[in-house]
Amino acid sequence: MTPVIMVETIALIYYNAIRKATNSSVLKTICKQILKDEVPHIRFQYERLAILHKKRGHLLLKLTQAIQRTLFFTIVLAVWCGHHKALRAGDYIFKKYWQAAWKKMKFAWERMNPQLYEWDNKYDLENCDFQQEQSELLFDELIMRKKGVQNG
Ligand SMILES: [Fe+2]
Repeated sequence: MTPVIMVETIALIYYNAIRKATNSSVLKTICKQILKDEVPHIRFQYERLAILHKKRGHLLLKLTQAIQRTLFFTIVLAVWCGHHKALRAGDYIFKKYWQAAWKKMKFAWERMNPQLYEWDNKYDLENCDFQQEQSELLFDELIMRKKGVQNG
């Protein structure tokens, strides 16, 4: 389940890149729909993972997190190696891609960590406007909102 959420997180960047790179309105529409669909998928995954890890001891949870970070590091690099042409065409230079990937995954990790998980719906995806142009932005907005909550 963990690799799935990682791949779906990177898919947000990938389909956003394709959306930006293409001149085809059909492909743009498909990408927008995929982006829109991916956000609730990611939410579903991090919620399930938070529930699954709830009874995990502190040490085992730390080990799980370390393995996840190593795995994500590998996946982010592998996707870049395989798809850098498409990503570059969509304005993602390596640094931007790397930062976007970790930012999104950090958001998901925060939510899948049973110790940090808030278990409230106040800032959940359901309350957001899905009519927005793209879920990639929506996802960024959510990250900022969540941070705003923590800072304030
Ligand atoms: Fe998905």
